[in-house]
Amino acid sequence: MAKRIDVSGLTAYYGSHKAIEDISMTVEPRSVTAFIGPSGCGKSTFLRTLNRMHEVTPGGRVEGKVLLDDEDLYGTGVDPVSVRREVGMVFQRPNPFPTMSIFDNVAAGLRLNGNYRKNELNDIVEKSLKGANLWNEVKDRLNKPGAGLSGGQQQRLCIARAIAVEPKVLLMDEPCSALDPISTLAIEDLIGELKERFTIVIVTHNMQQAARVSDRTAFFNLAAVGQPGRLIEIDDTERIFSNPSVQATEDYISGRFG
Ligand SMILES: Nc1ncnc2c1ncn2[C@@H]1O[C@H](COP(=O)(O)OP(=O)(O)OP(=O)(O)O)[C@@H](O)[C@H]1O
Ligand SMILES: [Mg+2]
Repeated sequence: MAKRIDVSGLTAYYGSHKAIEDISMTVEPRSVTAFIGPSGCGKSTFLRTLNRMHEVTPGGRVEGKVLLDDEDLYGTGVDPVSVRREVGMVFQRPNPFPTMSIFDNVAAGLRLNGNYRKNELNDIVEKSLKGANLWNEVKDRLNKPGAGLSGGQQQRLCIARAIAVEPKVLLMDEPCSALDPISTLAIEDLIGELKERFTIVIVTHNMQQAARVSDRTAFFNLAAVGQPGRLIEIDDTERIFSNPSVQATEDYISGRFG
């Protein structure tokens, strides 16, 4: 069966600085994969290579292959904008469009793509807000600005915006690190629901979170400061947290470094 994501030999640079080297991994559809590892080991960089956001950074460059359902995202003629439609992203700090209404925030991606029928828009916005477990809290104020929501609500709004365009994959870079514990649990519950429909890759510094939400865990590390980050191992989450193959993984998850 085709993998949802199939990365081989991926190396990414910022100008002449090689940030990550020779990463290969696969991701199954409708699964949650967690990326863990010490600061600077390239988790965010690698995540951004999965939807061609890395190359938006000046000097950002990639070698190797990323297949999405067997299609090479870096193949000639592939439009990065269409890649980002298939592979959505949620960031560390909730970033709703501040002056836009809640409704318009969710509709923004759809309007940009133009691939919906006018009379469908209300339904899609409602469905996406429900999907992000936010509908009940905002249904009476859809025309109020997104910036008026709490941090946790804003993050769920960003998730609603991301899922409204029905991506295949949702990338999340520390989506809870700016949130309080209750909002964090709400997002974790949501991830459990979203994986029925989407394939999720999440970066987290929170080991309990990785253990709670993910099916697979990938541990990244670097040999020394300035050296490129590498994938040390990827395995079932249960195994990574009980009996990892590599000593460095064990040291990291048990808090001996990083
Ligand atoms: N915009 C950039 N320009 C130049 N170098 C960068 C840029 N962003 C990241 N880097 C470098 O790439 C390497 C990997 O950084 P990255 O942000 O991917 O790490 P990370 O694992 O996500 O770290 P953290 O856990 O702190 O978020 C680091 O050496 C970092 O300094
Ligand atoms: Mg990061």
